[in-house]
Amino acid sequence: MFVTIDQAVAKLKAGGVVVFPTETVYGLGAIASNSEAVDKVYRIKNRPRDNPLICHFFSLDQIEQYARLNPLTKFLLQQFAPGPLSVLIDIPTDSPLLPATCGRPTMVARIPNHPLTLELIAKLNEPLAGPSANTSGKFSGTNPEMILQDLGDKIDGILDGGQCQIGLESTILDARNNNSLVILRQGAIGSRELKAVLSTTPFAQTPIYLPESQKTTMVTPGSKYKHYAPRTPVICLHNYEELKHLPVQQTILFGGSVAEYHTLQANHQVLFLGETIVQISHNFYRCLYDLDQLKVSQAWLWIPILDESSLGRSLRDKIEKITNTL
Ligand code: TXA
Ligand code: MG
Repeated sequence: MFVTIDQAVAKLKAGGVVVFPTETVYGLGAIASNSEAVDKVYRIKNRPRDNPLICHFFSLDQIEQYARLNPLTKFLLQQFAPGPLSVLIDIPTDSPLLPATCGRPTMVARIPNHPLTLELIAKLNEPLAGPSANTSGKFSGTNPEMILQDLGDKIDGILDGGQCQIGLESTILDARNNNSLVILRQGAIGSRELKAVLSTTPFAQTPIYLPESQKTTMVTPGSKYKHYAPRTPVICLHNYEELKHLPVQQTILFGGSVAEYHTLQANHQVLFLGETIVQISHNFYRCLYDLDQLKVSQAWLWIPILDESSLGRSLRDKIEKITNTL
């Protein structure tokens, strides 16, 4: 099941579907211009047919072979690629990438920051279409074990890159208008990081709209579907009062200090997400996977340190989609 880069290239060129590592989450890859291979991706994931796939490239030059970039989009790619940033780009109506975009004259493109996958795409010399490697509706896979359990018998191979470094999906931006920047999906690169690089450029006055504040109704097709859910129902706790009133021997997903983790362990079964937002993001989907292995009827989520950093906002976004509140 595990393949080398050369084997992955051969399988993809033969129309196969190969799972590849990135710094965010694993992707379920097919050559973007091969409509039969892209079809397989939809079948394997059971993905709705109106939900287009991100195209992965190994360089800015390679993206520019398929599309003309406006100055702001190009600038952002120069700043953040390779990295956890995806951008919406207009493509010609006869683009070879239409199989991956569901026939739309736009694509979402990114250059993933993972040496194995950069080498894979360079050797392939073709854009690699790839949604997150998970059955639709489930949370994304961040290590090979999770993916093998979910999709193992359906894929043609997996390129092993270990545990994904960031652990949450890339930010998606619409920067096609040089005078306004819309964050379509929150990720590790958020308004803080964007403002920091824009501040001394001709784009400094460009306002940044987040999903909750944007005036436009534009969203990615994927955002209308329920995402990221583990099988186990998870209820989110919002304050210490709620935590105090839990009966003993509950299952709790916890992110915060080690001292508090030990205190909780005295009365509960605790899955530890990590001490910082970076660690919690890195471990988040893996812990949802571990939770499902426990086969408990319900769990609680308690992250008292959730902050307003870009990763914090991104986590909050995922949590709202998976949890019920009290
Ligand atoms: O970190 C990531 O972005 C991962 C790794 C594998 O790169 N990929 C990922 O793909 O999260 P996926 O398919 O799970 O999410 C992509 C989102 C979906 O919500 C989809 O609707 C949106 O991007 N999208 C893709 N192409 C689009 C297009 N042409 N126009 C609008 N939205 C698009
Ligand atoms: Mg996904």
